[in-house]
Amino acid sequence: MTERIIIFDTTLRDGEQSPGASMNTSEKLRLATQLEKLGVDVLEAGFPAASEGDFEAVSRIAGHLKRTEVTALCRTAKNDIDKAWGAIQHAAFPRIHTFIATSDIHLKYKLKMNREEVLKAAIEAVTYARSLTDRVEFSSEDGSRSDRDFLCRIFEAAIEAGATTVNLPDTVGYAIPEEFAELVRYVMAHTPNIHKAVLSVHCHNDLGLATANTLAAISAGARQAEVTINGIGERAGNTSLEEVVMALHTRPNFLAFTSNIQTEFIYPTSRLVSMITGIPVQPNKAVVGANAFAHEAGIHQDGVLKNPMTYEIMKPETIGLNMNKLVLGKHSGRHALRSHLKDMGYDLSDEELQLIFTKFKDLADKKKHVVDEDLEALIAEGILQSHDVFALDYLHVTSGNTVLPMASIRMMIQGRPVQGAEYGNGPIDAVYQAIAKLTGTNSELLRFSINALTGGTDAQGEVTVRLRENGLEAMGRGADPDVITASAKAFINGLNRLEYLKAHPLTPME
Ligand code: KIV
Ligand code: ZN
Repeated sequence: MTERIIIFDTTLRDGEQSPGASMNTSEKLRLATQLEKLGVDVLEAGFPAASEGDFEAVSRIAGHLKRTEVTALCRTAKNDIDKAWGAIQHAAFPRIHTFIATSDIHLKYKLKMNREEVLKAAIEAVTYARSLTDRVEFSSEDGSRSDRDFLCRIFEAAIEAGATTVNLPDTVGYAIPEEFAELVRYVMAHTPNIHKAVLSVHCHNDLGLATANTLAAISAGARQAEVTINGIGERAGNTSLEEVVMALHTRPNFLAFTSNIQTEFIYPTSRLVSMITGIPVQPNKAVVGANAFAHEAGIHQDGVLKNPMTYEIMKPETIGLNMNKLVLGKHSGRHALRSHLKDMGYDLSDEELQLIFTKFKDLADKKKHVVDEDLEALIAEGILQSHDVFALDYLHVTSGNTVLPMASIRMMIQGRPVQGAEYGNGPIDAVYQAIAKLTGTNSELLRFSINALTGGTDAQGEVTVRLRENGLEAMGRGADPDVITASAKAFINGLNRLEYLKAHPLTPME
């Protein structure tokens, strides 16, 4: 029988460590619900000791998921473990994930501890965590750059103390596939009690090798893969869930493993992550990028029409990408909308559906054909951003080659209307000046990008911004058939994320 790889998703923890990718509690809850539907086995919901906001989000997720193991990250200090346990103890299947660095470079410069001290801290942490729950994971941070024998020693001790999973991270994305596979084999061969635990790997993508390293480790004996949707994560990101799962799915003759992932929810989940975090997926991203199933060269198009297998190794529908998109128009009813959204992976409550339906009708008045990307934008705006501090109510802009651009804006700030007008160097500058003044914010615009959501001149413009204010950074995203309005929405979305970060400061880490 083929063995199953445990898929451990850390989009909500390591993924959230992507620059600017903060998510609020309701966004995290929605994403966690989608990840459960996708079929992840373990969901790392956050790092409760990092902030009150993280604690609250982890706790809400733990109480909400029914089938998935929910884990929380913590260092080895008792206080950290208590915070993690406090946040997940009511989960159906709680797992404590405790970690400490094991490489000499981390020991010397970061922890200022020697190996014996680290070993003791790991044993104490795992023993204590195991007194709280039967599911305990121990991670050796910077494992791939650690002394192999020390790694085996600490894994052996952690398993002896009760760890049910031991995780080997390539924290800085330094490993090369053959080397990493060899390390996994070494750990399997030299950790006497390794058969009593699951060996996991957690790779970062600094050299673009995270997926290759994860697959090499699986071939060498690892049975849990730690991954994120769209590969988001600290610096260059983590291993992509979709790449690992589709590699197993597409090459079973070479990688004879299965997973519990319902592959048809991969694409909707990827879109949801991108909408929630404001981080666009690069067009040429494997599996979920906009061009992953697009054929440009005539010879390829001809081949695909004759038989898709000529140039397509995966079917778009396997990942839930509907190539023959159902187009909705202004005559489409509520029932058609609900069932289409359901096919896209969104199970909305009656109240949510009503909200989206009203927005859908407004959009259908402006745009003849409403397609999946348009609906996703409506969901992002109507449901995901429904608890925001700032909202756009009214926008009027004058601009042209003979007038000074001016924006008049009315906004709601915590439900209270405010209005004002400003001039600017261009229409978007005028809008941003007016919004900054009304909201009393002083953010720096680090990045601004604009794309068409679909083809056609009536397509919605999708704007993504990155903002910085007082050392905090956040992404913002907005879509609208009018690109100036889309720019205003993106800016306001970014400001709302900054407000969330201000209200939920991170606890400084020692
Ligand atoms: O990259 C890393 O080492 C981590 C650990 C905390 C698992 O994220
Ligand atoms: Zn990591």
